[in-house]
Amino acid sequence: MKIDFKTLRADFPLLKQTNRGKPLVYLDNSATNQKPRCVIDAISHYYTHDNANIHRGVYELSERATREYEKTRVTIKSFINAKHAHEIVFVRGATEGINLVAQSYGRTHFKVLDEIMISTMEHHSNIVPWQMLADQVGANLRIIPITDDGEIDMDAYQKLFTERTKMVAIAHASNALGTVNPIKEMIRIAHTHDVPVLVDGAQAFPHMPVDVQDLDCDFYVFSSHKAYGPTGIGVLYGKEKLLESMPPYQGGGDMIESVTFAKTTYNKVPFRFEAGTPDIAGVIGFGVALAYLKNIGMDNIAAHEQELLNYATQKLSAIPELKIIGVAKNKVGVISFVLKDVHPHDIGTVLDAHGIAIRAGHHCAMPVMERFQLPATVRASFGLYNNTADIDALVTGLQEVQRIFK
Ligand SMILES: Cc1ncc(COP(=O)(O)O)c(C=O)c1O
Repeated sequence: MKIDFKTLRADFPLLKQTNRGKPLVYLDNSATNQKPRCVIDAISHYYTHDNANIHRGVYELSERATREYEKTRVTIKSFINAKHAHEIVFVRGATEGINLVAQSYGRTHFKVLDEIMISTMEHHSNIVPWQMLADQVGANLRIIPITDDGEIDMDAYQKLFTERTKMVAIAHASNALGTVNPIKEMIRIAHTHDVPVLVDGAQAFPHMPVDVQDLDCDFYVFSSHKAYGPTGIGVLYGKEKLLESMPPYQGGGDMIESVTFAKTTYNKVPFRFEAGTPDIAGVIGFGVALAYLKNIGMDNIAAHEQELLNYATQKLSAIPELKIIGVAKNKVGVISFVLKDVHPHDIGTVLDAHGIAIRAGHHCAMPVMERFQLPATVRASFGLYNNTADIDALVTGLQEVQRIFK
């Protein structure tokens, strides 16, 4: 089916507004993206008609809220082709998913001098939870280096495995460079060493089809708010066998089977990991966002964003004194760059005055900045509602930056 991406933009009410009096050009989709009307309406509908606590009430309202909430679990299972719906754990976002695995799986399975492998290009969310765990159990982090193009050094990766390697935790796509990592191959290699792999899918899931059985990953995490859904909701996918081997991450209501002061027994997977009242409206809204994406087709979204990436790469490369940071062969729609003699924050400020929202900074990936010996970069990142006119506006804005700072 041929999708007219131009008309889809009208589904996003926020995009109609101005920024500093200019039409808004939103190019910060890696940070979070805007929500289609159907998601906003679903949340409003939930609070207007269906609000009740889930899994507990015996009345119709609660049953309805529970049904809608659990429906999203099944939607996600199909969306990522998980084997079972109970392999889908609702969390607050990719960050909480990684913390959950580190604290539950890691603290149970890792011991002194064990090794956790991550890469130089990870977001802080896929660094700090492992550092915390390493401090707690006396384990060590091993860092997979990246090349000057911003790709994983696969030779170095293979050489980093030792008998002590207990986990590989790797981004599917980098938020700072846009690199899409060869995770299927990385998972295959890790499994030859009997090492499980956690994939941080925060920047990949909204931009391409993901099939967790085909990848054979052991854990996969992502956030709703980067995939056109509400904030405060995310998913941890885990293989049934691994989730079954893990103790609860937090204690509270809904995660127990029975409680006495002498002994508490825990609920089954996934409820064991979902203590307390969750963001019910958020989960339901996320289900609607996924239905919206499915209707467009993840293949179509990937193709559209690749066209934008190619167009933007060509246009930005033609700007004198602009350097793109991260030129991997396989990228999502993310372009990080620097302009000679102009600080990224100054670029961001000038672009903002022209209605253009981009990100300037270290993108929560300080080791990437260190690798390229930069304090910061400017990052433009694309979503399904962006078009070539947005990129043309960015180019005009950058020409204005150069004029001002000449
Ligand atoms: C690669 C990557 N991983 C993890 C995260 C954390 O996502 P969240 O803040 O939604 O938990 C981000 C957020 O930007 C990211 O880009």
